[in-house]
Amino acid sequence: MTELVEKLKNNKVLEKEEFVYLLQNRNETIADILKNEAVAVRKEHYGNKIYVRGLIEFTNYCKNDCYYCGIRRSNANAERYRLTKEEILACCADGYETGYRTFVLQGGEDGFFTEEKISDIVYSIKEKHPDCAVTLSVGEHPKKTYKAWFDAGADRYLLRHETADACHYSKLHPEKLTLENRKACLYDLKEIGFQVGCGFMVGSPFQSFETLAKDLLFINELSPQMVGLGPFIPHHDTPFKDERGGELELCLFLLSVVRIMLPKVLLPATTALGTIHPQGRELGILSGANVCMPNLSPESVRKKYMLYDNKLSSGKESAQYLAQLSDDMEKIGYRVVVDRGDHADKTKQ
Ligand code: 5AD
Repeated sequence: MTELVEKLKNNKVLEKEEFVYLLQNRNETIADILKNEAVAVRKEHYGNKIYVRGLIEFTNYCKNDCYYCGIRRSNANAERYRLTKEEILACCADGYETGYRTFVLQGGEDGFFTEEKISDIVYSIKEKHPDCAVTLSVGEHPKKTYKAWFDAGADRYLLRHETADACHYSKLHPEKLTLENRKACLYDLKEIGFQVGCGFMVGSPFQSFETLAKDLLFINELSPQMVGLGPFIPHHDTPFKDERGGELELCLFLLSVVRIMLPKVLLPATTALGTIHPQGRELGILSGANVCMPNLSPESVRKKYMLYDNKLSSGKESAQYLAQLSDDMEKIGYRVVVDRGDHADKTKQ
């Protein structure tokens, strides 16, 4: 086991069977060693800085029907909403005042928001806040559309791969959605020049150490600038309502492994992590994460963007609580900064 840990530290990656072994045989001692290493490598590149992103969930309409997701098309109980361009710009203006320098526009795959509409929104945000980064997270689209959004000024794109095992992928999604296409989108985005984020849920139904090992190898192969990783949490109106949720301890372990593999990665302590444990986010930071993504969506719609049960929608989730988050981070030796928070290789002047 100690050899594996050394190998991971030195080579930044393991063979698939070795990852399986590491995950299967992990214990508190190994987790602590990896945690210390993760914190040390992050410190080299980012010191004790924590970057914040203002998350704007601008539509919960979605044409997809992913079995795990609360805003899936078939969920007739989801109360649907769309923010207007003006509302989105107002969220950004508020966020800017508070100290946010990255805005993440996240939504379902909603045909109402065409290529042109999103380009226009991105362009307007960048026009008003040229010193800010805009991240899009709106699913799978043709390369030409991604390019249009990049040309409109979008800097980053989040598209979790969900699982790097094709068979597992087909157990989480309807037939129309394929791992092949998801990967192709990620490579398109990278080629265009976006800072790209992939990621997956920990403890999703049918996940195994084998599929997790494949996730880690895929992350190594894609080498994204960002990785989103949080626990699966069942939603009561989905086919997975009776499935078990993901475990905190495994999430934290994987955060450390990902940090060691990709020392400069932008790694959020996700909302889902904060949902399953009151100190989830702090624990995420202490395991190697360096980003928090509080919610900037208007109070009135926050409860409607329910990807999973009990999703945090107040308290630390709102912009007003940035001060609280700063305090919490200071208590564990970190500093929330007013900064775009680009990847260490992609810092613009
Ligand atoms: N539990 C945890 N995460 C979820 N997501 C969607 N549904 C759930 C759930 N039930 C995650 C997916 C998606 C991201 C926006 O939210 O990984 O990519």
